[in-house]
Amino acid sequence: MYFGRIPRFSPSFSPAEALVTARTLVKKPDDVATVHEFENTFAAFIGARFGVMTPSARFAFYLLLKAMGLHAGDEVVIPALTYFAIPSMAAAVGIKPVFADVGKRTHVLDPAAFEAAITPRTRAVVPTHLYGTPCDMDPIREIAKKHGIKVIEDCAQSTGARYRGTRVGNLGDAAYYTFGLTKNITTLSGAMITTNDPAVAASVRADIEATTHGPQERAVKEAATGLAMMFATHPFVYPWTLHPAIVVGNRLGKDPIHERFGEAEVRYDGVPTSFQKARPRAVQAAVGMKQIERIEALNGARIRNGRALDEALANVDGILTPEYAGGAEPIYMSFVIHHPRRDALMVELRKRGVDTTVGYMSDCSDHELFEEYRRPQPNAATIMREQLHIPVHPRMDDKDTRHIAEAVRQSVRAVG
Ligand SMILES: Cc1ncc(COP(=O)(O)O)c(C=O)c1O
Repeated sequence: MYFGRIPRFSPSFSPAEALVTARTLVKKPDDVATVHEFENTFAAFIGARFGVMTPSARFAFYLLLKAMGLHAGDEVVIPALTYFAIPSMAAAVGIKPVFADVGKRTHVLDPAAFEAAITPRTRAVVPTHLYGTPCDMDPIREIAKKHGIKVIEDCAQSTGARYRGTRVGNLGDAAYYTFGLTKNITTLSGAMITTNDPAVAASVRADIEATTHGPQERAVKEAATGLAMMFATHPFVYPWTLHPAIVVGNRLGKDPIHERFGEAEVRYDGVPTSFQKARPRAVQAAVGMKQIERIEALNGARIRNGRALDEALANVDGILTPEYAGGAEPIYMSFVIHHPRRDALMVELRKRGVDTTVGYMSDCSDHELFEEYRRPQPNAATIMREQLHIPVHPRMDDKDTRHIAEAVRQSVRAVG
């Protein structure tokens, strides 16, 4: 319970994982068996045959494009609203990202827009289960099948979500996930591929085994940040430390959380060599093992909070609340509302103790980074102008969601 000052996120990293980090670094820092154990446990959780740890989701995406035999000149359909690194990675190897629109309130790939984006060169589609919301996979899979297109699910924000009873990541040809500190589960940086295709699994495994480990310090640094964020977002600490820092920073036009967790958007001009020196280590896998034990509880708390917000905000005039495809069981990584005066609403909410963010996604269909692939999409453009992510993380309880709902009501009235 947050006593009226609610952070936008709180990491899932806890002292239990900090202990595991320390123990693994001391006792078995180079233990390959721990990595394999996490890969197998994670794949079993998803329901897939194979799991392969990778340093990042973007590198995982590159390895999958390669494993599936895509070449320069091929096309991949990517939702307009996504993380810049995914189209950047395709473009880096000459594969053309073709941007398709998302649903205005679902925020995920619109099956009709996907179909309209197909050309004779389309070889793959990336249904991105953004904000924890599963895409409408039945029509997407049907369209892909009809045109012989590979389905690579982007589960970076949706580990554990389901669609018609099946976990996302088990609905296409392969999938990737990522476990940074701001995600629903963390391995202190690191990511994963799952697939049921032995040839794809063998290809990405061979490529990962050809890479080298980076320094252990990265995990130590991430663990220190995770612990610091965990304490800074504690209900007894947050109101006197991070919240005032965010309020003051905001007045100066800065956001301390974005500065720590945001990343400069870039176009890669090839596969960065740093990706080849970041093979996941035992410490990441050991933390992952601990987190996967807790994932149902962590996601369960998100789902409880998300549903409470869905219900409480459904009839607030002036905002739009999220929608979900039939059969989608979201895990509420984010809870996104829309308002035409989003920035003013953000200020009003902060006055009422509720910290919010505009998030880290971009409208890649109309972005200077992807000039030669420009294909503007109206829903993605509207979402970029109007979206506001309100807190939904597992550390919140019913009192907090009630406080947020009341703060939204008052703030909407205040901005007019
Ligand atoms: C939807 C989505 N896809 C891909 C990525 C890239 O993940 P990574 O930083 O592990 O490359 C992210 C990162 O947050 C993401 O949100």
